[in-house]
Amino acid sequence: MTAIMPISFLLNGRPVRLDVAPGRRALDVLREDLGLIATREGCGSGECGACTVLVDGETRLSCLMLAVQLDGRKVTTAEGLGSPASPHPLQTAFAEHGAVQCGYCSPGMTLAAAALLARNPSPCRAEVREALAGNLCRCTGYVKIVDAVMAAAETMRDEDDRP
Ligand code: FES
Ligand code: FES
Repeated sequence: MTAIMPISFLLNGRPVRLDVAPGRRALDVLREDLGLIATREGCGSGECGACTVLVDGETRLSCLMLAVQLDGRKVTTAEGLGSPASPHPLQTAFAEHGAVQCGYCSPGMTLAAAALLARNPSPCRAEVREALAGNLCRCTGYVKIVDAVMAAAETMRDEDDRP
């Protein structure tokens, strides 16, 4: 019989507690148990970045994490960045710049960009490309994605400057 382990963590700002089998991946628990399907499974082997989440503000590949590793952590998925009714500036910029094509990579891209902008609010294009290097998009040449991140960075700086 497989032991079940209780875990609790802060998910998109809300406390979550659930029981998981020790071998289950964080990606599956987020999608299947918690219904947060913006976190995608692409390769399932750490190559594509589609499953990116933020754990304590750092990008992590949820296909390579066990759910038990989320215990006690602060976890953010794309749903926690913003919603259709109240999108994050990155999500708005991705839509406005045509950076969302099939959209499969977009949640991971926006989370990787959010982590970058949290530590560097004024990145150059090369720094954006470097931050997104682990997130593969098969649809574009990345120009629109970099454009979107640069635009969102500007929007967020403007918002921060507001009295
Ligand atoms: S699904 Fe995790 S890196 Fe591709
Ligand atoms: S928009 Fe299709 S893989 Fe990125």
